[in-house]
This record gives sequence, C-alpha cells and structure tokens, in this order.
Amino acid sequence: MKNKKIIIGNWKMNPKNLKEAEKIFLDIEKNLLKIKKTKIVLCVPYVYLDRFSKLSKKIILGAQNAFALSSAAYTGEISFDMLFSFKVKYVILGHSERRNMGENNFEINQKIKYALKNNFTPILCVGEKDRDESHAYLDFIKKQVEECLEGISKNLISKIVIAYEPLWAIGDSSVRVATGEEYREVSIYIRKVLNDKFKISNVPIIYGGSVHPTNVLEFLKEGHADGFLPGRDSLDAKRFLEIVNIVENFK
Ligand code: PGA
Repeated sequence: MKNKKIIIGNWKMNPKNLKEAEKIFLDIEKNLLKIKKTKIVLCVPYVYLDRFSKLSKKIILGAQNAFALSSAAYTGEISFDMLFSFKVKYVILGHSERRNMGENNFEINQKIKYALKNNFTPILCVGEKDRDESHAYLDFIKKQVEECLEGISKNLISKIVIAYEPLWAIGDSSVRVATGEEYREVSIYIRKVLNDKFKISNVPIIYGGSVHPTNVLEFLKEGHADGFLPGRDSLDAKRFLEIVNIVENFK
C-alpha cells in the first residue's frame, strides 16, 4: 500500500490567545471526517496542548521543539516526557527559525535521538539560505542531513520525516516561491544522501515554504512531494482545508 501523504501545520508563535486557537483548531477538526488518505498534524504552541489534547480526534498533535533531556535544571525548556502526556506524537526539529536563534546540527542530532528513543516522530527541517549557480546549496543540505542524522540506525531513520524548506521561500518576506521542479531536484538529492550514507530509501520528504492552495498541486505533480509543511496557511482554517482536500484527492 502507498504511504499516506502528510500535512503538518506549523503555527509558530500564533495565534494570540486560546480562544482564537480553539476556533481555528475546531474549524479544521470538524471538517476532516471524510479525510482518509492524508495524515493531518498541527504543531501548536505548548500552552494550547492541554486543551487540544481533549479536543483532537483526527488531528494529530505536534510540538515545535523539545529539549533533549528528561527533567533537569534547564530554565524555560520543555521535555519530551512532558509532551507525551498531551498526546503529542510529532516534533519539528531544526526549523530554520530556531537555527537562526543559534541551534546547530549537533544539538538537533541530540534532539532527534532523544525523540526517537521516546517514540516521537521527528520532523527534521533542512534547507539552504540562498541558491547559487554552482549548486553549493546541495553540499549545504547534505551536511545538514548527515550531521543531524549522525549515529542513528537505519531502522530509526525510517521513522522520521524530512521537510525541505528553502529559507528564501519561507514567510511573508520570502524572495519568491519555490517550484515543483526545485523541490524535486532537492528531494532526489536528499534520497541519494540517505541511500549513500545510511542505506535507506523510504523516508518521507515533504515541502515547506509559502505552501498555499495555489501551489500544492504543482509540488505533487511535478515534485512528487510526500506532503507539506504550511506555516501561515495552517492558521487559516479555510486555506488549510483547501490544501488538505487537494492532497486527499490527488491520484
Ligand atoms: P510559511 O512557513 O508557510 O508561512 O512560509 C513555513 C515554515 O516556516 O514552516
């Protein structure tokens, strides 16, 4: 059987309060009854998890980060053990916005190992800042994949999701949107890196960076994407559901 496609919404530090959050969450949840072939994950701020763990039926809960130790003296951090009690199954690790705050491949590797040990699905984000004629961005992505997955067994790597998110295509200030063709080049390359170094070929690779209802079909058709990681559009129930329906109905 073909693997289910996956859509992972990244709410980042939004919305402002629980009332707004609950409205978006329920508007999405109540429209997923007919969705059978697509996994829907929402990675929401920690403070909404308690409430959402009681409301979620179809939506699988995710977090946007976690700390690679159990309880210890680390002010402000959240452990995987804590997330477990709120039905969280997925954790975004190595998002470019966290890398910009100083997180490096070594720390992300520790977090991925800890997540896998605790039965979470890590969503490893990789992606270059700029594109160049000489294709140096491929070496950059190779280094991210290899260093973030260093020392992890083939069996465990098969449990992760890789999100290719070119930084130049993320958010309101993006330079331009990426094309299905650009995603395809990088996803093939990531598969080659995974195969060469870890002898593994079946890791889902999804696309993130200005994902909208207007461009998902292109990534599915031309890029053969295994799924998507929308940011802004996951906070708008209507647009998010449009994306879900396009993916669900894609043959
Ligand atoms: P965007 O964010 O869809 O708003 O560009 C994607 C992301 O940063 O994960």
